[in-house]
Parts: sequence; C-alpha cells; structure tokens
Amino acid sequence: MLEQITSIKEDTLEAIAGIGDLKALDDIRVGALGKKGAITGFMKQLGGLDPDERREVGQELNRIKDAVQAAIDTRKSELEWAALNERLETERVDVSLPPRPETQGSIHPVSQVMDEIMAIFCEMDFAIAEGPDIEDDWLNFGALNIPDEHPARQEHDTFYLPSSGEGGRPVLRTHTSPVQIRHMMKSEPPIRIIAPGRTYRSDSDMTHTPMFHQVEGLVIDETAHLGHLKGCLRDFVEAFFQVDNVPMRFRPSYFPFTAPSMEVDIGCSFEGGELKIGAGDDWLEILGSGMVHPNVLRNGGIDPDRYQGFAFGMGIDRIAMLKYGIPDLRSFFDADLRWLRHYGFRALDLPTLHGGLAR
Ligand code: DAH
Repeated sequence: MLEQITSIKEDTLEAIAGIGDLKALDDIRVGALGKKGAITGFMKQLGGLDPDERREVGQELNRIKDAVQAAIDTRKSELEWAALNERLETERVDVSLPPRPETQGSIHPVSQVMDEIMAIFCEMDFAIAEGPDIEDDWLNFGALNIPDEHPARQEHDTFYLPSSGEGGRPVLRTHTSPVQIRHMMKSEPPIRIIAPGRTYRSDSDMTHTPMFHQVEGLVIDETAHLGHLKGCLRDFVEAFFQVDNVPMRFRPSYFPFTAPSMEVDIGCSFEGGELKIGAGDDWLEILGSGMVHPNVLRNGGIDPDRYQGFAFGMGIDRIAMLKYGIPDLRSFFDADLRWLRHYGFRALDLPTLHGGLAR
C-alpha cells in the first residue's frame, strides 16, 4: 500500500508542477484530496489495517496530503501572478497618446446660444434661475394672470398630463414665465434673473417644434422702469449679434402678465437671400416683454405698491437660427451628426464677453 501511495504522491506532484491553468489545477486537487479523491480513498481504507500498519500508513498519508496541498497552494499563487502580469501587459494604457479624432464631440447651437446668453446677462449682474419642465396649471397660467377661460390658454396648444388628483393639473410648461413666479415666491427684491430652459407646445412646422427653448428675464426693485428694460435689451442684442447700433422697434402688444407690453423687433435685411442683422429695412420679431403686472407680483408674494419691474421672454432657437443662419428649426432636433459637425461649436470654447462669444 505504501508503494501505491508513494507513486500517487509522485504523480500528483509532477502533474501540479506541469499544470498551466487554475481550472486544471483545481481538477487535480479534487482528484487527489476531494471526497472521492485518490488520497481520501486511501484514508478510508485505514480502518481495515492492523494498528501498526494503520499508524505508519496514516502518518505517511498525512504527510502526503500536506505536501500535495502545499504544492497546490504554491502553484496556484504562481499561476495567479502570471495571469495578473499578463493582464497588466496587455491592458496597458499609453497615457501619452492623443485622443482619437473621431471621439471629439461638439456643442449644439442651442447649448452654445444658451451659454452666450448667460455670459452676456451674467456680465450685467443677472443670476441664473431654473424651474421644472412639468409645471402645474396654476404656475404656468393662473399665477401669470391667465385665468381659466382666457383665450391665451388655447393659443398655447398645451400638453396636459394626467392629473394625480392633488394640486393643479400638471402641464408641460408652455413658456419659461412660471420661473418668474417660482423665483418671486422664494426671494426678496431686488431680483435680477434669467431662466433659460425647455418649453413645449403641440405645434410642428418649419418654424415650430413641439419642444423648443426660451429664456425668461425678470428684474424687480423699487425703481426699475421701461427705460431700463429698453436699455437692457439693447445691450443684450448688440452684444449677442456683435453689431453696434442695431435698429430696434418696441411695438405695443398684449400679454396678460405685463402692462404695458411690448414686442421687440430688430432691423435686418434679406438681400440676396442672406439675412443680415442691423441693416436694411426689414424687421424680425425676437421677443416679448413689458412691465410686470401687479397681479403677477402679488401672486409671487411681492407688494406691488412698493416694488415694480420688467420681464421679457425670448425664443432661443429662433435667435440661434438668426445668428448662425440656420434655415429650418426642425433640423435642430434631427440628431444628424453631419449637421452637428457643420453647425457645432468646439467644446472648450466657452463664450465670454471679453474672450469673444463664438468662433
Ligand atoms: N411667455 C411669453 C410667450 O411664451 C413671452 C413673454 C412675453 C415673456 C412677455 C415675458 C414677457 O416675460 O414679459 O410667448
């Protein structure tokens, strides 16, 4: 029996030394030391031996077991090291390589124009405010002095959402104006904010998409007046289009949330099919504005006898089209990479007034 055991030991140790992978090594362990393994098999036979032989064979079996286990452990850690080294070799990253050219992204014109707008107004000391895309009926309409039966509600082609039973009916906000109310409710005048973001209306053609972008402006203090509104918008338009003395026209208009209300046009020409801002005798409407209605101030928790201010709302996609000569609004949302490469902006060129707004 001892001879058999010794030969098993030698065979097993030899096999362990020659093994190349962890799975095969484990098979050897099971074959020798597992429940049905060869060495375990001999252990089970010990009971049938006479006492002297049992002691001798038993001791030898224990030594062999230990030797085999030790050989397996050693081989296992050798194989693990080898595997790790191989991974380290093959998965090495050369950090000095430049990035692949095709992984470079670009900035969408809408994001670019939002950054430009923010750069200009922040320079005028405006802060950025935000509100959610899903508003309730009250904030989107009621608080802005647009009661239930008001025709402006129909004009907005609102997307209504299923009601949860509590609070007002949820809608996808049809304009960024509800951010005015949200901001007034949580802050004290003086207020000077712009709020860029997504807006939604059920409408689709060359110049309308169901989702589009607006930027809202709100200034409230004890003295802000129409002259400030005009000066502020003029400074914005000249900085944004990078043209001095842009002809601007303030047309009387109507919005429920402002009184008086004005729509603002900028002078341009369409000569030779090319749009030029600041010259010629055509006009383009770019925004709505006015002095904030006392009811709106009151709904925002602000005393209209003490405070007054102005507001404006501008279509971002529209002024992006004007500035960068993009003819069809729908192409903004086609996710066509060729279009993006043509109109897109370099990711690291952040617009600033002193560093230049774009390109
Ligand atoms: N909310 C208006 C719209 O979507 C735009 C607007 C007009 C906003 C006048 C204003 C404003 O803040 O004073 O058509």
